[in-house]
Amino acid sequence: MSTSIRYNPAGTFLKSGGISAADLEALAPKLHDAREEVLADAQLWADGVDVPDAKQPLDAGFHLLPDRLLQELKDRGADSEVARLKATADRLAGSCASVVVLGIGGSYMGARALAEACCHPYYNEVPPAMRGGRPKIFYEGNNVDNDAAQGLLDVLGSDTGQWGVVVISKSGGTLETAAATRIMIRELKDSLSGDEKLADYFVPVTGTSGKLFDLSKALGCQEIYEVPDGVGGRFSVLSAVGLLPAAVMGLDIEKLLQGAADMNEHFASAKPGENVVLDYVGVCHLLEEKQGCDIRILSTWGKKLEALGLWYDQLLAESLGKHEKGALPLTIVNTRDLHSRGQQHQEGKRDKLITNVIIESADRDPLAIGESDNNQDQLNELADKTLPNILSAAIAGTNQAYLDDNRPTADLVCPQLDEYVMGQLFQMFMLATVVEGRMIGVNPYGQPGVEAYKRNMNAILRS
Ligand code: PA5
Repeated sequence: MSTSIRYNPAGTFLKSGGISAADLEALAPKLHDAREEVLADAQLWADGVDVPDAKQPLDAGFHLLPDRLLQELKDRGADSEVARLKATADRLAGSCASVVVLGIGGSYMGARALAEACCHPYYNEVPPAMRGGRPKIFYEGNNVDNDAAQGLLDVLGSDTGQWGVVVISKSGGTLETAAATRIMIRELKDSLSGDEKLADYFVPVTGTSGKLFDLSKALGCQEIYEVPDGVGGRFSVLSAVGLLPAAVMGLDIEKLLQGAADMNEHFASAKPGENVVLDYVGVCHLLEEKQGCDIRILSTWGKKLEALGLWYDQLLAESLGKHEKGALPLTIVNTRDLHSRGQQHQEGKRDKLITNVIIESADRDPLAIGESDNNQDQLNELADKTLPNILSAAIAGTNQAYLDDNRPTADLVCPQLDEYVMGQLFQMFMLATVVEGRMIGVNPYGQPGVEAYKRNMNAILRS
């Protein structure tokens, strides 16, 4: 099974300071073994088998979740989770002018990535008809910022339409999200008229027990969507965590799941050298091991992939940043950041691998520079060039400049940006992260290091 996204590592085969195709070939057996382990982990989850101690924690449920959800949709139709999610999303969209998504880390970054990649770039600002009549989307509970939270309340209060809340927290106890939830419930109650029920405007996504679960029950919520056991926060974008906000925005969540399911098939069947996931891991790993490139720059071209990059920053950092190991992820947006970070990437320390994420075709017709009577800017000679032509020239010119100085780059090329491709990208990056973890002996699941700040913060607050 081929994928619609392609990985081209040619820019890492440098005259000096790079890796060779032979290095990659030599790594193939290790990559193969790591894949076998990842496939076996997924099967443990699918079979519902108890996880052996040596594997704990094991949150491999993300892997086969897209296939399972699609199969359930086929088998159970309107009773399936996907159909119920869509129905809830349509109900909210029908009754709310705005929806606030509360969540932090893995509980919101995927939704944001989908919104930026697949929705109108000015989604909240355009007239409702230009976003398919869907509600505006806001994000809170991802920080504890007094002024930002009140700024949002100003916006919600000054808008004439009713608003609703989707709250997402797997544990149900994360303080940032819980504090925002309490505040939002108070405001939401105030915003409703006499016969309107809060539970109709408040949809939770959480674990099968916990504080948010209990609160949602007490509020009489019609539906409580589940983050399945064995699906970790940063691996949960293709569960209700990402699917519900995506469906509220009117995105095609079946296409999203299909992209991920197709990536699964590709991952399981294509051999190293033809496997997007394994080749990406191999190149990243070799450059770190052999050349000390432990800064991984995801260089996104255009404005729509920054949030995907931030989602990936979290995924890589929380999964592999353990036991004093793990590369540092950094997302940049070009051409914007060529004017801020570009200098360092071209002439700074040789500790970076730059992976370009390139979208081959824009959604809209190419916008041309055009002729002008005011040629003081001397652009008439480029009159027939379009913005996509300029972006392509910038990509080629930047890659050439890095190559000329023996600086490694690789390209991840997507034919276009839509739900299907996003499904492929999400799944590719999640699989790559767990494969690499298995290969370097780091359990990619769990994030014990995050607990330290939470403990201290709670102790300070409750003392
Ligand atoms: O990857 C993770 O598990 C974390 O980033 C969580 O998503 C984040 O801490 C939020 O946790 P919760 O969904 O329990 O509120």
